[in-house]
Amino acid sequence: MKNVAVIGAGTMGNGIAHTFALNGFKVQLIDINDAALKKGLETISRNLDRMVAKETISEAQKATTLTNISTFTNLTEGVEYASLVVEAATENTNLKLNIFKQLDDACPEDTILATNTSSISITQIASVTSRPDKVIGMHFMNPVPLMPLVEVIKGYNTSNETTETILELAKNIGKHPVAVTDYPGFIANRILMPMINEAIEALYQGVAGVQEIDTVMKLGMAHPMGPLQLADFIGLDVCLSILNVMFEGFKNPKYAPCPLLVNMVNAGKLGIKSGEGFYDYSKNKKAEAISKQFLK
Ligand SMILES: NC(=O)c1ccc[n+]([C@@H]2O[C@H](COP(=O)([O-])OP(=O)(O)OC[C@H]3O[C@@H](n4cnc5c(N)ncnc54)[C@H](O)[C@@H]3O)[C@@H](O)[C@H]2O)c1
Repeated sequence: MKNVAVIGAGTMGNGIAHTFALNGFKVQLIDINDAALKKGLETISRNLDRMVAKETISEAQKATTLTNISTFTNLTEGVEYASLVVEAATENTNLKLNIFKQLDDACPEDTILATNTSSISITQIASVTSRPDKVIGMHFMNPVPLMPLVEVIKGYNTSNETTETILELAKNIGKHPVAVTDYPGFIANRILMPMINEAIEALYQGVAGVQEIDTVMKLGMAHPMGPLQLADFIGLDVCLSILNVMFEGFKNPKYAPCPLLVNMVNAGKLGIKSGEGFYDYSKNKKAEAISKQFLK
């Protein structure tokens, strides 16, 4: 495998492109939004600078990594020579089904089609293609260049050969893959999202403020980041969408998203990416709890 196409240049897509390109792959980074591609490349360059400053990589490696990445706004052109596509577009079922239909038509017939979805059924995504045996989940963690885990999700029809190829590939790019089967939220989000949702519920009920809730989990449970800060980091829209997928998929009220989370997403408070979530990132990126306004 030499050519990897990455669909979506947002939070995850740019990190996935960074990781493959740093490990010697030619990466075609594709986004419908030109500004997102520009921002994605800037983020990659900034993150590579940090690695150079820490002496994890050399200036020459940074330069090679950047030349390994080319950008496209047209999906068909970008995937023409790809042996693997990793889709990391917005978490929306219809959008992903549409992308996978296009990928199935545009890619060579032996191309493996992977999705970085946090929660949507791999089996459902695979069902719109003519190659369900070659469709798989490759769920990277945020920030991709730093986090070692990749959940490799085997859909109902994913072949063992595809699974083995992706497990091996993940190791080759320095990641630690864990194979799981295809049920809503897989493992990572099935455990993480109820915790985040419960933290929001505690805030909503006025049990404690933002800082207090995060402090309990940081100092009491040795979490590097509190659940509300982590939600801001992931994106509140992404959290809501994952909870909805689990709520609908299991038909179990324990996954029902807290009304405060729904309200915040409707109000455009999406966390770091919108400048405000549970914390305010507008002033010098300094996090400020704005808990009072949320308390009932
Ligand atoms: N944010 C996280 O912490 C995280 C962690 C693991 C997995 N994920 C998953 O990764 C995926 C991407 O999430 P994100 O946080 O990077 O989202 P994001 O909103 O930061 O980026 C999504 C990008 O997809 C692009 N896009 C939308 N439709 C497209 C299309 N048809 N073709 C090409 N590009 C398109 C958008 O322009 C945008 O740049 C989602 O499936 C999400 O669930 C997110």
